[in-house]
Amino acid sequence: EQKSALAANPSAKGVEELRVAFLGRKGQVTSIMEQMRNISKDDRPEAGKIINKTRSKIESAIEELKAEAEEFLIQQKLDQAPIDISLPVQSSGAKGSLHPVTLMRRVLLKEFRKLGFTVYDGPEVDLDLYNFSSLNFKDDHPARDMQDTFFVKDFDKTVLRTHTSNIQIHALMNQQPPLRVVSPGRTYRCDSDLTHTPMFHQIECLVVDQNISMGDMKGVIDTFLKAIFGDDLETRLRPSYFPFVEPGGEVDLQCVSCRGKGCRICSQTGWLEIGGLGMIHPNVFEAVGVDSERYTGFAFGFGIDRIAMLRYGLQDLRQLFEGNQQFLGQFPIQP
Ligand code: PHE
Repeated sequence: EQKSALAANPSAKGVEELRVAFLGRKGQVTSIMEQMRNISKDDRPEAGKIINKTRSKIESAIEELKAEAEEFLIQQKLDQAPIDISLPVQSSGAKGSLHPVTLMRRVLLKEFRKLGFTVYDGPEVDLDLYNFSSLNFKDDHPARDMQDTFFVKDFDKTVLRTHTSNIQIHALMNQQPPLRVVSPGRTYRCDSDLTHTPMFHQIECLVVDQNISMGDMKGVIDTFLKAIFGDDLETRLRPSYFPFVEPGGEVDLQCVSCRGKGCRICSQTGWLEIGGLGMIHPNVFEAVGVDSERYTGFAFGFGIDRIAMLRYGLQDLRQLFEGNQQFLGQFPIQP
């Protein structure tokens, strides 16, 4: 009787009550077993058999009921609160945001895509061959010095790349000109102050084709710097030396903090260097097997963090890598 009542309205509590009623210390089965004493010795084994059989029947019936009750409860929950996946999410109000370096990288890439560039990726841990020697660094070049370069212990001639220029070599070894690629990535140098961090980001741009000139390079640089900084900031191009370009130069951006007047961020110069550039050196073409009589090209490598620093008016480059939520939360979710 109890069993059928329970079947109509199953509950864990009901099952437990039923178990106690039959198998508990004062339960029916228990009391029958206690009465075994009153049965004659001859009949006892037979009676014991019957009782044991009945008890195990009751036990398994209760187990079954228990499973049924659980199943029922789950079903009941599902029926009561169906999950409607088409309902809008209830926002907690907390929103994520992009890291300023990610943001800046996306903004830069968008500009390069407009100019027809494709993204080319390369390794962060690389051989000296790609990071230095194919880029026309002589064996005694100071950039190979322990002070700048992180060497990988126990691996001969392996470094954390000091610039994204290693990708120039990978790209040119894998792909015949014409080439128009852009490569953002992490770079490493043993350095730390207001405008340097040991890990930083660069974006490398490489164009190789027939009749590529410095004018083309200037056009690309002007276009994307204008897109990011508007006509607001002045830029300047000045000659400089890198072994893998000839002629070579550097681009400076007017310091945002002091508008060119001079402050501690720009070491009182009014300018911040954002990267190097130049026409590909014939020795580089030779190292990768490209005909330097037929092709010319340019490359430049800019610091993404430096550009972000100027664009977002940061006081210290190291802020970018401290993981302070309050600082990071100021930036938008999307570029
Ligand atoms: N790789 C150079 C640096 O990190 C920058 C550079 C890139 C210079 C391309 C010239 C051409 O300092």
